[in-house]
Amino acid sequence: MGEATVVLGIESSCDETAAALVTGGRRIIAQRIASQEAAHAPYGGVVPEIAARAHAEKLAPLIEAVFADAGMALGDCDAVAATAGPGLIGGVMVGLVTAKALAMAGDKPLIAINHLEGHALSPRLGDPDLEFPYVLLLVSGGHCQILRVEGVGRYTRLATTIDDALGEAFDKTAKILGLGYPGGPQVEKLATQGDPAAVPLPRPLLGSREPHFSFAGLKSAVLRAAESGEYARADIAASFQQAAIDCICDRLSVAFEIIDEVSALVVAGGVAANRAVRGALEQVAASHGLRFVAPPLELCTDNAAMIAWAGIERLRLGASDPLDIAARPRWPLDPDAEPVRGAGYKA
Ligand code: KG4
Ligand code: ZN
Repeated sequence: MGEATVVLGIESSCDETAAALVTGGRRIIAQRIASQEAAHAPYGGVVPEIAARAHAEKLAPLIEAVFADAGMALGDCDAVAATAGPGLIGGVMVGLVTAKALAMAGDKPLIAINHLEGHALSPRLGDPDLEFPYVLLLVSGGHCQILRVEGVGRYTRLATTIDDALGEAFDKTAKILGLGYPGGPQVEKLATQGDPAAVPLPRPLLGSREPHFSFAGLKSAVLRAAESGEYARADIAASFQQAAIDCICDRLSVAFEIIDEVSALVVAGGVAANRAVRGALEQVAASHGLRFVAPPLELCTDNAAMIAWAGIERLRLGASDPLDIAARPRWPLDPDAEPVRGAGYKA
C-alpha cells in the first residue's frame, strides 16, 4: 500500500482534537491539532464534560481545514479512521460518530482504531525499517505497559502498572511542585536545572521478579519531600525523573529475561517525548544489542497522524468496521492478559 493510498485520521479520546491525512507511503500530507489545555488548566486536569463539548465544536472545522491544507476532499480518501477507545467516552463518541458520518457520506470504509494501537504502531510511521516483532514500552497519561508487538492487532502484555501510569506520576509531581497542566513537559524542563541525586526517593518494585510497575509510592515521597521544605523544586523534579527512569530501566531488564527474538526496543506514548527517558532507553537497548526506535517528538503525544497510520496498517490487512460499532471506554491491547494484583482500571 503506497503513496496513492490516503487515510483520514481522527483523534478525540482525551484533550486534543486532531485530524490528519496520511499516505500508505508514510507521508503526513496535512495534520492539525487543537489543544484544549487552556480550557482545562484552571482545574489542574482534564474535565471530561468540557472536553466532549470542545471536541464537538472543534472537530468539523478542523477536518475541513486539514482537507483545505492538503488541497484534497473526502473523495480523495481511501478510508476514514477514528479512535473508538479507550478514552473519555464523550470525546471518543464525537470523533467516532463524525467518522461514521463521513464514511457514510463518502461511501468509504470506516476503520475503528484502538488509541493504544495508534501509539503502538506510531514508530512504524516514522521508521520504514521497523519490523515485527518488537518490544514496546507504552508510557502515556493512562497507561504504563511493556508489550511484545507481534503484528497489527497482535499484542502480548508482559507488564503493566499496579497503580499510577508514568504520565500520571509526572502530572502529579508537576501539581505538587506548583507547575501547570499538563505536567510532564514542565517537570522535564525544571529537571534540567536540578540535581538528580539531591533528594532520596524510592524506586518502587526495583529488583522484583515480575516486570510490573508502581509509581504511587514515588509520588507520595515526592509530596513528603516538597512539604519538608528542605529541597529546591528543581532538585525534586530532577530526582523524581531519575527515580522514574531507574524504575523503567530495571523493569525492562527483568522483561528482557523472558523476551526473545525481537528486533528493537520501541517507546511510544506521551512520556516518550521526554528526552531523558529516551536517552536512558537508548542505553538499555544498546546493552541488549537491540535497535532503539522512538517516534519523532510531535508524534509521541496524542495526534491524528498515528490514528490515520494505524488505519493504513489495518486497511492493508483488509479490515473495515460496521457503522454501528460502539465507542469503548476500555479496550486493552491484550484482552487475554491476566489481571495483576492491585491493578485498577489501567490494567
Ligand atoms: O499519549 P498522551 O498524549 O495521552 C494519553 O493517551 O494519555 O500522553 C500524555 C501524558 C501526560 O501525562 C503528559 O504529562 C505526559 O504524557 N508527557 C510527558 C512529556 N510530554 C508529555 N511526560 C514527561 N515528559 C514529557 N516531555
Ligand atoms: Zn495517547
